[in-house]
Amino acid sequence: MNHVILLGAGPYAEEIGAIIDEEEKLILNGFIQDTNAKIDHEILSKKIYFIDNTEEILSKNLFLSAIGSPKRKNLIQQIIAKGGSFTSHIHSTAIVPQTVELGIDVVIGVRSVIANFTSIANHVLVNRCVTIGHHTNISSYVTVSPGANIAGCVSIGEGSYIGMGAVIIDGVNIGKNAIVGAGAVVTRDVPDGLTVVGVPAKPK
Ligand SMILES: CC(C)(COP(=O)(O)OP(=O)(O)OC[C@H]1O[C@@H](n2cnc3c(N)ncnc32)[C@H](O)[C@@H]1OP(=O)(O)O)[C@@H](O)C(=O)NCCC(=O)NCCS
Repeated sequence: MNHVILLGAGPYAEEIGAIIDEEEKLILNGFIQDTNAKIDHEILSKKIYFIDNTEEILSKNLFLSAIGSPKRKNLIQQIIAKGGSFTSHIHSTAIVPQTVELGIDVVIGVRSVIANFTSIANHVLVNRCVTIGHHTNISSYVTVSPGANIAGCVSIGEGSYIGMGAVIIDGVNIGKNAIVGAGAVVTRDVPDGLTVVGVPAKPK
């Protein structure tokens, strides 16, 4: 069984850590955070490491992102620069057909359902109870929050954030680093960097 260190030491990392402990597919050895991060106590009785002090863990562990915001990119890039390798975690209740292309450092949460011929790039977090339709492309560093429903033939650009319960209808293109607010219904393309909210979704 592979040994893993989770990126992040916040409540979301604690949630993912508890799931990994329960599922027993990976051995959780601790958490890693930025040097200026503040958490100094153990989580789930595991040690918290800092990014500038990785010698003892780098070669013995794989890494998995557990920071539920676009901020995780910086920490991921520091791990890559140090030569660290990543793993993924697909929850045993998630449905991911064989035709789905999955990158590395992908988390698919409890009861999420991915349809056939969808592609999910590296460093993507799909939280619990999400549905993603057929032939949809999710780019690197995207975060999809609980309960979002993404239809078929949708494209979501790098670094974008999809809020809880958002609905994205078929064929919509969402640009890079865009934000879709919780509960939004997205019926039109969203340009790079824009935040949209509401039903139907409009720029905030
Ligand atoms: C869209 C979002 C990013 C905006 O955050 P923000 O810039 O901090 O916005 P604020 O909280 O300052 O709200 C600004 C205005 O937008 C409105 N607003 C915020 N989020 C909204 C949403 N999702 N839908 C509709 N209106 C929203 C607020 O009511 C407020 O309106 P007002 O000025 O009339 O009072 C955020 O509200 C959101 O939806 N985040 C997703 C949260 C989520 O899904 N978390 C998952 C955790 S696992």
